Amino acid sequence: MKKDFILILDFGSQYSHMIARRIRDIGVYTLLSHYNDVDYDVISKKKPKGLILSGGPFSVYEKNSPLISKSIFQLNIPIFGICYGMQLISFLFGGEIKKSKYKEYGKSHLIIDHTNNSLFYGIPKKSIVWMSHFDEVKIIPKEFKIIAHTTSCNIAALGHLNKNIYAVQFHPEVKHTEYGIFMLKNFVFHICKCSLNWKLNNFVKNTIDNIKKRVNKKKVILGFSGGVDSFVTAYIIHKAIGNSLICIFVDTGLLLENEKEKIFSLCEKMHFPIKIIDAKKRFLSKLTGVVDPEIKRKVIGKEFICLFQKESNKINNIEFLAQGTIYSDIIESSVSSKNLISNSIKSHHNVGGLPTTLMKLKLIEPLKKLFKDEVRKIGKKLGLPKEILYRHPFPGPGLSIRIIGGVSEKKISILRKAENILLQELITYKIYNSVSQAFIVLLPVKSVGIKGDKRTYEYVAILRIINTEDFMTATFSRLSYDFLEKVSNRITNEVDGINRIAYDITSKPPSTIEWE
Ligand code: XMP
Repeated sequence: MKKDFILILDFGSQYSHMIARRIRDIGVYTLLSHYNDVDYDVISKKKPKGLILSGGPFSVYEKNSPLISKSIFQLNIPIFGICYGMQLISFLFGGEIKKSKYKEYGKSHLIIDHTNNSLFYGIPKKSIVWMSHFDEVKIIPKEFKIIAHTTSCNIAALGHLNKNIYAVQFHPEVKHTEYGIFMLKNFVFHICKCSLNWKLNNFVKNTIDNIKKRVNKKKVILGFSGGVDSFVTAYIIHKAIGNSLICIFVDTGLLLENEKEKIFSLCEKMHFPIKIIDAKKRFLSKLTGVVDPEIKRKVIGKEFICLFQKESNKINNIEFLAQGTIYSDIIESSVSSKNLISNSIKSHHNVGGLPTTLMKLKLIEPLKKLFKDEVRKIGKKLGLPKEILYRHPFPGPGLSIRIIGGVSEKKISILRKAENILLQELITYKIYNSVSQAFIVLLPVKSVGIKGDKRTYEYVAILRIINTEDFMTATFSRLSYDFLEKVSNRITNEVDGINRIAYDITSKPPSTIEWE
């Protein structure tokens, strides 16, 4: 039976994926597509129960601004426009959009003018909403009526007079919008009439059944990185096919201290069959002279594939390669041929960097439609140990993308020591579990310092510690000077090669979490 689902057309807002997560949280399957990847035909074929047009950083009047065909309004699918989505709907229906007098970012007071509409069902007349815009609708199309305003925005929400088309200038998906989740529920249940169909328990059971059927006595190798995604992937596949799964952990030489030993003992605990391949020399020699981060990723991706291919040749009856790819890997790595806006940010090695054409094995990616927090929830339900569930993510290309520019054995060793000190202090200060990711970046820049009355000329390192819900947006962690000082003192004293530490205080966006 085909599942009810909501389709979000992404116009490039940093919050688009949040809309998907919120709706999945309330129990309805939701997909996110770049606005340009789906047209009238695709939508009418896929038959979503509702369409959401996301926000985006554009002005509808700009040259090359992302537009869609007005024909989608003929499909009679309920539509909800958010921020840019609202401006787009108004524009396509002939309304007028202009720069707001004031750019508005942050909390605003919403006043509902028409309480008897389905979008605002059960929501108090006055509430707080989160705004983030520089354009706004000035003249509404004649088929619409204003259903809410704020103190600084006269047209904060619109409803079509006859069709199920709604639009809001604010962001209901952001937690600061007090009744945002109620609005999304109203849209999904009252307006689109979706049924509850997204439950992680069902997901696990169905996925195990599907894998069992698909694999059918063949063997599967799993590129095992040791993060929560690969543990959950291993768990699900192991449940489905037992020891026909072989986890392969590649020691690239770009790992954290004692990583190999930790992974080995955790796998033993979970009874996963694991094979460790020592490929330190191979990776280092391939990376020598490579400076560009994307080329580092491609080189590493290619080596992984060659190794997996070589290993698979040694195993009889092997047909599949499994990976712990999750939805955000796919969104952030995707490059749509037609897409103008959300260009590939980084080719995370488990997606974009994998030259799958070289690979004869078929791919199994059971988590590819899940967000990180959904993977953790599943892991928790499956009873995975805390040390796996709450491990900070570690990128596939490892320390190579934390060494800016050229990679060498010496630099890897410097960085590994510094990272180890950071990890120890995060644990001592009981900070590890309250931040989402913490690491050091080694710059190709030296500075003058003084150690034991002697002049030094050593590398500058950056401390990067962030908090995030989903790794798509992030803020730097506001930690005590005491902690920062301790980490800085220990690294500059104990690690030969680093004499200066700086703390990175940028958010994502505009920065990314890793430096490369
Ligand atoms: P960025 O730097 O893109 O990071 O903001 C988001 C999350 O992804 C991790 N990351 C990677 N993971 N291969 C991976 O498997 C990669 O090439 C890669 N690049 C970044 C990063 O550590 C963060 O958790």
